[in-house]
Amino acid sequence: MPADAQPELRQKLVEVARRMNSSGINQGTSGNLSARIPGGLLITPTSLPYEQMEPEDLVAIDFGGHPTGHPKGHHSSPRRPSSEWQLHAEILRSRPEIEAVLHCHSIHATALACHGRPIPSFHYMVAMAGTATIPCAPYSTFGTKALSLDAVRALEGKLACLLAQHGQVALGRNLDQALRLAIEVETLAHMYLQALSLGEPPLLDAAEMERVIALMGSMHYGQAADRPGQS
Ligand code: 13P
Repeated sequence: MPADAQPELRQKLVEVARRMNSSGINQGTSGNLSARIPGGLLITPTSLPYEQMEPEDLVAIDFGGHPTGHPKGHHSSPRRPSSEWQLHAEILRSRPEIEAVLHCHSIHATALACHGRPIPSFHYMVAMAGTATIPCAPYSTFGTKALSLDAVRALEGKLACLLAQHGQVALGRNLDQALRLAIEVETLAHMYLQALSLGEPPLLDAAEMERVIALMGSMHYGQAADRPGQS
């Protein structure tokens, strides 16, 4: 396997992609996952069920979508990259601090997104996305540049957003973080929908959300599993 084939990262992508489905935040061949590699990204192939996906099925591309090599020594992967490669590439290109991008169609987050509704500061855990409100990007056809640009705009300074009539996107400094955040966004969407059954819930104000975001940042809140000596 050539040195640039990223065997451990490929294995990790397969593992986390399968956990997207086993955790209940994704179903079928919906959703896609990517991680940064030098000069581009490694991304799940289009339309391949995750239980059938092997590390060599992942597709290495540059930020323009061009294939950049394959572990079996082929010039490029025999698979085509996810139809959402532009979404992943634009986010990774414009956000150098981000290493992993997860997109899924989790039920409750998508239900809110179908109404074009953001997740407001009804609960302090919204701050896990680094923001007081998890926004909803406007609708564009799947796989388009327009969708990727709208998502990048909605994600400015944030780690998650909803995509209208589509799903959600969660970012991380690694694949586990992106998965944890996507699960959190789905949980918050579920809670918010429940809370809405009694009417619009009261919101935490901007100052409180700023305090919570700062506190979470200083504690590396929710990242214990990423810290040395812990699992
Ligand atoms: P892919 O199978 O091409 O990744 O598409 C799934 C999807 O969710 C499109 O938004």
